[in-house]
Amino acid sequence: MYQIIDGKRISQEIKDELREKVAQLKAEGGSRCLAVIQVGADPASSVYVNNKKKACEYIGIESLSYGLREETTEEELLKLIEELNGKKEVSGILVQLPLPKHIDEEKILLAISPEKDVDGFHPVSVGNLSIGRPGFVSCTPAGVIQLLKRSGIEIEGKECVVLGRSNIVGKPMAMLLLRENGTVTVCHSRTKNLKEITGRADILVVAIGKPKFIDESYVKEGAVVIDVGIHRDANNKLCGDVDFERVAPHCTAITPVPGGVGPMTIAMLMNNCVEGV
Ligand code: GUN
Repeated sequence: MYQIIDGKRISQEIKDELREKVAQLKAEGGSRCLAVIQVGADPASSVYVNNKKKACEYIGIESLSYGLREETTEEELLKLIEELNGKKEVSGILVQLPLPKHIDEEKILLAISPEKDVDGFHPVSVGNLSIGRPGFVSCTPAGVIQLLKRSGIEIEGKECVVLGRSNIVGKPMAMLLLRENGTVTVCHSRTKNLKEITGRADILVVAIGKPKFIDESYVKEGAVVIDVGIHRDANNKLCGDVDFERVAPHCTAITPVPGGVGPMTIAMLMNNCVEGV
């Protein structure tokens, strides 16, 4: 029998711990405030932004919400970020991605003060992670580490394979697994002999962005499989990068989609808001 790693339960556990921490913080006269900026009205982004605001409310973090029109200029957005950087009461700044095409995403992420970079996307945050200094860590990979730790899965000394090399998931995931003393290999769409490499993994983290890409032929018997993907299949049902039905019977533990990695991203964002750098 395999263990299903319950991201919904674990994310709730983390949110409840944070809620207690914030209550204590407030009793000592402290507070936390997250500024959430959305440019345009992309429906998926609106759902994410709303969920982030709701999580803030649950935990007791104040949130400042900036819903800017699609035509907002880069200069206007930079000016708002500058303002928020300078506000002592704002502890975190989040610019929801993707941004409209006329705005240079990299320039915007660079403008956010690394002290308020709760998404962990600023090059200074990324650099700090890679050399083992304290700093904000990208929320989804940080959530994967919590899923493993809170499910009693040891990382130290394990063969960890990360499939995907994005700046937001794959690369920071590899750094975090390394920090936990895993032996880490990063694979991607151009990797040769992919099955040979994924087949060695004790812990396989899949973030390749292709629905049901991983079947049992990629997975070692008894592996732990973490699925970061989220897609809709032909029947409009949510699915991940892993073909759960085929892979699960060969695993020791596996995350489902939905209810695995997904809920952890917001929980870790809240963690970053509460704990700071
Ligand atoms: N868009 C999709 N995921 C994210 C995220 O984690 N942070 C931000 N800022 N935008 C996103």
